[in-house]
Amino acid sequence: MTILEHLTQASTQGPESPDPASRATPRGPVSTRGPESRAPSEERIFLSSPDVGELEEEYVMRAMRGGWIAPLGPEVDAFEAEMASRIGVDHAVALSSGTAALHLGLIALGAGPQDVVVAASMTFAATANAIAYTGAQPYFVDCLPETGNIDPQLLDEALAELSAQGCHVAAIIPVDLLGKAADYSAIGAIAQKYGVPILSDAAESLGASHRGIKAGSFGEAAILSFNGNKIMTTSGGGMLVTNTKAIADRVRYLATQARQPVVHYEHRDIGYNYRLSNLLAALGRAQLTRLDAMIERRRDLRSVYKQLFAGVAGVSIFGGDCDDEDNYWLTSIVVDEEQAGWNVGQLSDVLTARNIENRPLWKPMHTQPVFEGVPAKVNGSSERLFRDGLTLPSGSVLTDQQIARIMVAIEQFLGR
Ligand SMILES: Cc1ncc(COP(=O)(O)O)c(C=O)c1O
Repeated sequence: MTILEHLTQASTQGPESPDPASRATPRGPVSTRGPESRAPSEERIFLSSPDVGELEEEYVMRAMRGGWIAPLGPEVDAFEAEMASRIGVDHAVALSSGTAALHLGLIALGAGPQDVVVAASMTFAATANAIAYTGAQPYFVDCLPETGNIDPQLLDEALAELSAQGCHVAAIIPVDLLGKAADYSAIGAIAQKYGVPILSDAAESLGASHRGIKAGSFGEAAILSFNGNKIMTTSGGGMLVTNTKAIADRVRYLATQARQPVVHYEHRDIGYNYRLSNLLAALGRAQLTRLDAMIERRRDLRSVYKQLFAGVAGVSIFGGDCDDEDNYWLTSIVVDEEQAGWNVGQLSDVLTARNIENRPLWKPMHTQPVFEGVPAKVNGSSERLFRDGLTLPSGSVLTDQQIARIMVAIEQFLGR
């Protein structure tokens, strides 16, 4: 039975069963709308909770009994091999977070204090923070209004200017926003024109593709995140994936404290403790077997939202016109206040009062106080999306009853 078919029945099915995953507090776009008022009688509905169950328990217990309670072991090796095969790349290095993968990916591409790294402005802070860790100068580029992904034309202009100024650009970081792959056909051609490598931030897009090619396989290297709110999770974790052995080897070496291959502890580089634990890799392997089903569930939920908002003046599903290749990680709406007669803040307040989590889209990096003064090529799109966008509960673990509760709340808000 589809989510939609369930919906008519769900509202009459009584109280929700307890959802252990809902105890986790997933991270999403930063809320700017002040403290939330909660309806204590109604259970909290989260934006994107971890979808874990008996299979994950089995895998983790098996790993635990196997005795490898360490940031290495057979589960890590198998998880890397399975993920590389899923994405269609030659190498994968399991790490403690997507942020760690960005950091080491940049180091492996040679980014340092003398360099500029050009990145999408419409992203989570981790993308930009990783640039700062290397000492390189970030340079932010705005997005296309329809997808929120980096605008190739602006990127071209930025690289032309930087090149005219004699700046060395160590990398471009496009971000696959909310599960939609960036336009790598255009970005790839631009990167080639200027001779700059791409480090693809695919933290949000595992399972998506661009023109039939899988997210995570673009560029010199890509990073994935298995944070608790992502399409699949290891509670916390990430991966660097690449076809270039030298990059994978360098990242693996740096992530294990840069130990030289000798019995005593010999170090010639500053290293990091960034490897993923064997137990969490086991969790990741279980999740990977369920990835397609979890994407399917999110896709069904996207369809429900599309039907709900169809014909509502001034409201569009963000990126919804071209989402066949998305992984549907998060579904957001964009509201034109003039046409709709209401704004996202008003809907947000209603949902929040009903204990239904919702968030604005990412606040662009070029508007973040911590990156004040950082050079940027801006077209106004990301700021508009931040103002007019609202992300709605999108998790694959949402029950039909929870989905029905969200729908009823929105229907009532729309005055139906
Ligand atoms: C676009 C983007 N990049 C990087 C990250 C960082 O990943 P992690 O939380 O695993 O460090 C995230 C998510 O958290 C993200 O959404």
